[in-house]
Amino acid sequence: EASGPTTITVFGASGDLAKKKTYPALFGLYRNQFLPKDTQIIGYARTKMDLPEFHTRITSFIKLPDEDKPEGREVREQLQAFLKLCHYVSGQYDQDGDFDSLNRTLQQQERFHERPNRLFYMALPPSQFVNVAKEVRHHCYVEHGVNRLIVEKPFGHDLESSRELQRELSSLFTEEEVYRIDHYLGKEMVKNLLILRFANVFFGGIWSRQFISNVQITFKEAIGTEGRGGYFDEFGIIRDVMQNHMLQMLSIVGMECPVSLDAEDVRDEKVKLLRFIRPLEAKDVVLGQYTRSEDGKQEGYLDDSTVPAGSKTPTYAVAVFHINNERWDGVPFILKCGKALDQQKTEIRIQFRDVPGNIFPHQTVRNELVVRVQPKEAVYVKMMNKKPGLAFDTTISELDLSYHKRYADVKIPDAYESLILDCLRGDHSNFVRDDELDAAWKIFTPVLAKIDAGEMEPVPYAYGSRGPAEGDEFVRRVGYQHDGGY
Ligand code: BG6
Repeated sequence: EASGPTTITVFGASGDLAKKKTYPALFGLYRNQFLPKDTQIIGYARTKMDLPEFHTRITSFIKLPDEDKPEGREVREQLQAFLKLCHYVSGQYDQDGDFDSLNRTLQQQERFHERPNRLFYMALPPSQFVNVAKEVRHHCYVEHGVNRLIVEKPFGHDLESSRELQRELSSLFTEEEVYRIDHYLGKEMVKNLLILRFANVFFGGIWSRQFISNVQITFKEAIGTEGRGGYFDEFGIIRDVMQNHMLQMLSIVGMECPVSLDAEDVRDEKVKLLRFIRPLEAKDVVLGQYTRSEDGKQEGYLDDSTVPAGSKTPTYAVAVFHINNERWDGVPFILKCGKALDQQKTEIRIQFRDVPGNIFPHQTVRNELVVRVQPKEAVYVKMMNKKPGLAFDTTISELDLSYHKRYADVKIPDAYESLILDCLRGDHSNFVRDDELDAAWKIFTPVLAKIDAGEMEPVPYAYGSRGPAEGDEFVRRVGYQHDGGY
């Protein structure tokens, strides 16, 4: 830990990620007094603009409560104070001189303190990424102090390119200095998984193939690529969310209890779990691509002018994973994700086995534990209960921990706030380690190569639908049973 003043440099300060996530998260931390004392924030981008203009931009990034609301005035005052910490440097991403001048700005902000603490946040497109890392290492690195680098996906597009990127990065920074963001790891309900699993005796006992029939993790969005199609088309839904966000949730659901909460202990267990997963084959996956909505109002993926004509990039995927270890052998883990579906929802659904020796034939349905990651965070258990009344009937009910009821007064922090704070504290637990990334790419690379070669056709589905019927059929076939489905 450095004791010196902290500077946070945001590269790509005029871009989309900085606008939507980085600055609002930094302001959230500032408001709640989580930024270290004497923090200064330096935005860096190519766009030339003066400080008032940059401040106007930041202000437009931040959602403010109405002025007549009680907190309206307070938040505005806090924002004015926050803006005083926000500086701007414009420069190219590959010019030594520009980074020298950034370094001078940093030194001034640090008042030439001997042990400064520098955090570099790379809110940049992948093409700029290695250049900037090199410039930072050669022109803005402090030998006596702390240097931390936050990087965002995509971390390559397959095993080889990810290793290549890793080679470049590791020649510049140590693994200790690098924080790879997967923002799902900063989400409240994803962080809750470790506690649910390992701080409750009753889940531990039933958490295996003996009691669990299958696990289904769903990520649905109700909007399409909406103008981001050009970017998305290079990646597709598997690289965009499944290989990272969804696989992270799977790892935490599946891993063994870590030796401690220490970042390396937690990540060791995740890597071990990933190594037990059989790489996906074509037969394990169904792909889809959305077409115009049934009412004709929403455009199909290929109607987006930024998407290359005839693209076969999937916007929907469902895949089954097999974890070949003692705990999970024979339990399918089904991951389903898609854009332009009927609703927005991310949830983890653990379905238990039938009651052995059941004396209530035709009247029981399987228990399920559901963790709703978003929206409306909740944990609930579906269980059989007596239908109240004179008759001796069964009914399915929920033990329901809905956060908006149980924790009504608590504001759930944004994932980025939580992760930036972790980084400022030097805690790597919720960041992706190099070998973890490697293990994740190994699972997906063979099937991605087939998709890229055009060997796997996406099935069309209408914007706003549940996705292709083939996806539902696949899920039924590989092991998921709906309530009352038998
Ligand atoms: C990003 C993907 O990583 O995650 C986006 O690139 C996706 O396509 C987003 O929309 C989802 O994040 P959240 O926090 O809105 O669920």
